Amino acid sequence: MGFDDNFVWGVSTASYQIEGAVKDDGRGESVWDMFCRKPGVTFQGDSGDVACDHYHRSEEDIRLMEELGVGAYRFSIAWPRVLPTGVDHIELRGIEFYDRLVDRLLAAGIQPWVTLFHWDYPLDLYHRGGWLSPDSPKWFADYTQVVVDKLGDRVQHWMTQNEPQCYIGLGLHAGVHAPGDKLRWAEVLLASHHSLLAHGLSVQVIRARAKTAPIIGLAPACAMALPDTDSALDIEAARSATFSITSESAWQLAWWLDPVFLGSYPADGERLYGDAMPSYSPEEMKTISEPVDFLGMNVYHGRRVCAGADGKPENVARPSSEPITALKWPVEPSCLYWGPKFYHERYRVPIVITENGLSNQDWVALDGKVHDPQRIDYLHRHLRELQRAATEGVPILGYLQWSFMDNFEWAEGYKERFGLLYIDYKTQERIPKDSYYWYRDVVATNGSKL
Ligand code: FCB
Repeated sequence: MGFDDNFVWGVSTASYQIEGAVKDDGRGESVWDMFCRKPGVTFQGDSGDVACDHYHRSEEDIRLMEELGVGAYRFSIAWPRVLPTGVDHIELRGIEFYDRLVDRLLAAGIQPWVTLFHWDYPLDLYHRGGWLSPDSPKWFADYTQVVVDKLGDRVQHWMTQNEPQCYIGLGLHAGVHAPGDKLRWAEVLLASHHSLLAHGLSVQVIRARAKTAPIIGLAPACAMALPDTDSALDIEAARSATFSITSESAWQLAWWLDPVFLGSYPADGERLYGDAMPSYSPEEMKTISEPVDFLGMNVYHGRRVCAGADGKPENVARPSSEPITALKWPVEPSCLYWGPKFYHERYRVPIVITENGLSNQDWVALDGKVHDPQRIDYLHRHLRELQRAATEGVPILGYLQWSFMDNFEWAEGYKERFGLLYIDYKTQERIPKDSYYWYRDVVATNGSKL
């Protein structure tokens, strides 16, 4: 057993990280354009102004995707390209870029998997209150409608939002991502509530208006605890640590996913946050819990826990000699086994791995090629763990590697390279790395040789 015949192999990207062309065709500004102008917030002042220039090179990129043999491409739509001020005026040149992209993908036999929001929030709407505004869910629903009315005859797979933990947690609480705010916890919870409502309304709009029967999900950053050993006690400790709410942190996934899949905020969180909780009506919770078809999991690592003397989870220190990525993230392949297993047990929907990959110190070798054995080994180990979960019956529909190409890694700038394609940012040359060819074989053999 392993991956079934319908398993979808693909790659992922996001608009601001690859498109560039920030002033082309009437595109409005996003909070990331504004944030990158602030001194000292991104590595060496890098921005997405040019990025991989994908806006002008999408044909070449799709050709390389076709040669890779993938069945799906997950990309995001830049809201301010479609609606420069976030609402009202539709910029046809912007939406038509995505329209052509979808047609080209379909012609190449690649399913378009559309993420409606991967962090490039319209700057004008931020000035009108952003996610703190009670109007923000409606703004997102209206934007969804514009996109779905244009692309919903051909696009089947939709993700409403990417990683609210980051655009709310890093963007509005820690202040290290756009727009760079450090709000009080009560305000963070309010913005989170609005973003959940926006998700629910967006699902309703997609269902009501898409002409091709839609398959809808969301793509949060799935943090998790991993059992230090295979003992039943450690496994239970990891399960409990994965979903419990213990602090004022946006990284606790149950806060985002219990409302969507179970129809309520987690009781431990509500108790802990007390007066900081936003008030909301039962109708709002009903909207948030509008049924979706899959859980997209962005998974890169996990933290180890064991059961303490009282059975409660305790963090296990990781020896500093163990592997870490260029971004200093721990390499923990079993996150692609335990993650899908734990999340599916709790939320009972099929799983798609919407992101997983390695930031590595890649460069062009003297032979003109890019050798990235670490990425191959990282992907190999993680995919074996995913296969183990699939073999044990966890319904896993697909794997979308992050990322198709090197790109603007947010506050870390261009120094982090996650791609299967190496980008020479001076010339915009795309050079397939060794991992590109390796992944091509995995895709061609449906993972049977892992
Ligand atoms: C995720 C983001 C994605 C990329 C990867 C490395 O958190 O969704 O845009 O930055 O991490």
